[in-house]
Amino acid sequence: MLDAGAGAGAASLAARELFPAARITMVERDAALTAAAREWLPDALCVAADIERMDPFPPHDLVMAAYALGEMERPPATRLWDAARVALVVIEPGSVRGFSLVREIRDGLLARSARMSAPCPHESACPLAAPEWCHFAARVERSRIHRRLKDADLNYEDEKFSYVALAREPANCLPRAFYAGRGSGRG
Ligand SMILES: C[S@@+](CC[C@H](N)C(=O)[O-])C[C@H]1O[C@@H](n2cnc3c(N)ncnc32)[C@H](O)[C@@H]1O
Repeated sequence: MLDAGAGAGAASLAARELFPAARITMVERDAALTAAAREWLPDALCVAADIERMDPFPPHDLVMAAYALGEMERPPATRLWDAARVALVVIEPGSVRGFSLVREIRDGLLARSARMSAPCPHESACPLAAPEWCHFAARVERSRIHRRLKDADLNYEDEKFSYVALAREPANCLPRAFYAGRGSGRG
């Protein structure tokens, strides 16, 4: 798996639960976050690089970019897709802006023969028109330090995210693990 903009490795940790034997490459430009990622995933390969300048990306079965492409001036979605042997998963905040980037990537890569895996049940044009946006929510526990940092009382938050999973093959040809734990719901 290639995790682009890996930060402290959250997406890789989540993916490893589904693919425990996978070899992981994390690309991240921030040294402090990379050091944290190394503690969580000591066997992963950490590459210190600027994703916007990386060309080409090393090929991997699964390529992920979680909460990262929205931070870039020119998100390299096409190059990430070119590196994805099986699938590309892009996750962004569940906001109008985050969804708009996800939709742009979805449309651009479907036009390059990518096949839709999730969340859409079709490969046609997205029917949602602004100000509607598609997002999902995952309940995340808040630790005491989390609550203090966010000046929050609740011990959980519902993290909203937009995402797209695109693959080389139609959805029914992908490994079963790819679908385990898929969220549901549309906002
Ligand atoms: C919001 S964090 C998300 C981190 C992680 N993917 C996660 O889901 O927790 C975005 C990460 O992308 C990294 N990033 C942003 N632009 C980058 C670039 N051009 N090259 C490499 N890393 C970049 C940032 O340093 C940061 O660690």
